[in-house]
Amino acid sequence: MKKIIKTISVIVIALAIYSLIPVTALYLKKSPTPYTNEEAIEKLEDNKGEHFAFIVFGDNHSGLVFNDSATLKLISRINREDRFRKVPIDFAIVAGDLTNKGSLWDYRVYNKVRSLIKWPVISAVGNHDDDGKGAEYFREYVGKREFAFGDRNAYFIVIDNSIGDLGDEQFKKLEDELKASSAYKHRFIVAHKAPFSPYQQSWYRPELSPWSYRFMKLCEAYKIDAVFSGHEHIFKAQKFGGVKYITTGGGGMLTHFPSADGGFLHYLVVRVYGDYFDYETRRIFPPLWEFLTYYMWKEIFYSIINVIF
Ligand SMILES: [Fe+2]
Repeated sequence: MKKIIKTISVIVIALAIYSLIPVTALYLKKSPTPYTNEEAIEKLEDNKGEHFAFIVFGDNHSGLVFNDSATLKLISRINREDRFRKVPIDFAIVAGDLTNKGSLWDYRVYNKVRSLIKWPVISAVGNHDDDGKGAEYFREYVGKREFAFGDRNAYFIVIDNSIGDLGDEQFKKLEDELKASSAYKHRFIVAHKAPFSPYQQSWYRPELSPWSYRFMKLCEAYKIDAVFSGHEHIFKAQKFGGVKYITTGGGGMLTHFPSADGGFLHYLVVRVYGDYFDYETRRIFPPLWEFLTYYMWKEIFYSIINVIF
């Protein structure tokens, strides 16, 4: 019996060490030439047809080994999404907090991480991307913070609400973009912070801020299909005023919410058809070393709490 336990332990430890190889290779990888959001969008210009898909995730928080290892696992799955060649995947979009603390190291790692995704990657800005000199690095590595673009029959508006508010100028710009979007069959918004917290037990309560109501009423009036956000490291989807609000903050950062409530690593595959869209949430099992050092204990902790209280 002792021998079996010993053998199993050795195998698990060997596999855990093996699961660290991709992140080690990432750090040793040479930094590719960065590309901006504008350059990524240019690659979509020749897309034709009404059926397509795109990938969404948020909060990869590049620059910390736990986060990077998990994001690499996500990317290995993302890159296989087109294996059946049914719906073309046009791009991936990241809903902010691309970096852990906005440092140069973080941006360099994000640049490497992004280069591993098979499709053009469009990045929204999150609050952590501005930490320290982050705003400067964002300009250099990512480009614009607020922009809109059309792809086939859909219009995408990316906004910067990283400070947790939207000013009058931003609302004016947003409304102009919303008017422009009416020429398209589908309208999507990407904003790092959702206008409400999807999780009751969260400290974050944006719905108490005036921008939240104003923003949601605009989304309703202009018939937005979906708003994709991150910020909270969780998966949750809700519908208000005919608009789907999806929080998809499981792109790599350690998730501290219970997995039963959406605290798991994941990304979304959104498929757009003629006049409707749908999405699938791909839940990713963490790299083994990360499961053994964090995720397993998180779930044990919540299980004990549930039993005691
Ligand atoms: Fe975050």
